[in-house]
Amino acid sequence: MVRQGHRRRRVRALLSLETGGPETLQLVDTPDPVPGPGEVRIKVAGCAINYPDQLIIRDLYQFKPSRPFAPGGEVSGTIETLGEGVEGWKVGDRVAAITIFGGLQEKLCVAAERLLPVPEGIDLAQAAAMPISHMTALYALRDRGETRPGDTVLVLGAAGGVGLAAVELAKLLGARVIAAVSSEDKATAARAAGADDCMIYPHGPFDKDGAKALARRFKDACGPSGAQVIVDNVGGEYAEAALRAIGWEGRFLVVGFPAGIPAIPLNLTLLKSCDIRGVFLGACVDREPAKGAALAAELFAWWAAGRISPQISATYPLEQAGDAIAALSTRAVIGKLLVTMHG
Ligand SMILES: NC(=O)c1ccc[n+]([C@@H]2O[C@H](COP(=O)([O-])OP(=O)(O)OC[C@H]3O[C@@H](n4cnc5c(N)ncnc54)[C@H](OP(=O)(O)O)[C@@H]3O)[C@@H](O)[C@H]2O)c1
Repeated sequence: MVRQGHRRRRVRALLSLETGGPETLQLVDTPDPVPGPGEVRIKVAGCAINYPDQLIIRDLYQFKPSRPFAPGGEVSGTIETLGEGVEGWKVGDRVAAITIFGGLQEKLCVAAERLLPVPEGIDLAQAAAMPISHMTALYALRDRGETRPGDTVLVLGAAGGVGLAAVELAKLLGARVIAAVSSEDKATAARAAGADDCMIYPHGPFDKDGAKALARRFKDACGPSGAQVIVDNVGGEYAEAALRAIGWEGRFLVVGFPAGIPAIPLNLTLLKSCDIRGVFLGACVDREPAKGAALAAELFAWWAAGRISPQISATYPLEQAGDAIAALSTRAVIGKLLVTMHG
């Protein structure tokens, strides 16, 4: 991702030099990266922190970049230099990109096909907080979940990055939204994002009676017809309990597993004639870049029109970005954490 350039200018980067947690990251000066054919160099304004950042530095994520690398999977900034053969972009354009890694450095080279234009009127650094969470939530709800107006949508981990995005987008799609979270503070955040109802679930682990009680809580929250769509950002023991609250021919969307990868008894799908559907935004965007670009354009337009607003609960300078990555493991963060590069 970082190319060794011939220029003498150097930029700061927070690098993973060895496998380990955020405490192993080191702030170093690296050569100004030089864009290869088809790439542009971005002067990074913001890099949002996501759950996979703490996995990728521990070699626990599906992508394992060779070291040294900077974590940071989504960025925003301005184009500074065009590589050979790049068309349709110019120096100074405001852009965002999902990069998987590489975002925690002041300058970064990105394939031009990954660029997403950021409209005027949106704060450029804050634009980094939109792509992963909101594109995932919209792809999940609309493409995979076929959410329709009037549907009941249950969102687990509803105050996390994807969770809050799913709450506000499900509302925008005309659904009745039930936010499931683990604390009163998170319920307050989910209500502010538009949730119609909230349920607060306990932290696990759950014994047999605890799991039954949890399933009962999900059923009570969704009502007698159950949820037509369930967005599961949490996994673990919460997944089966939530699936038991699904409605007839409902869609259970598998998004993430911060609480562990669940094993689901398949008889539950038969009982409700329901679907369990996977959601993998990164692979979708790789396979269909035009679809990714369309999702982003629609979301940025909604943001510019004031119809959605990604919730950034804290910002950090680059030298403290490791603290932001560590915070996401505590289960206490609400919405997104953002690292800003240039004050
Ligand atoms: N499939 C895709 O394309 C895709 C795209 C983006 C993200 N993801 C994945 O989706 C998941 C959610 O992403 P996110 O950005 O919303 O993450 P996030 O902001 O960290 O939110 C995750 C939520 O999970 C809950 N949780 C339960 N157990 C937890 C634990 N042990 N540690 C931390 N959180 C725990 C928390 O909510 P409560 O405390 O309320 O339970 C937390 O708010 C992650 O696993 C991420 O990797 C998948």
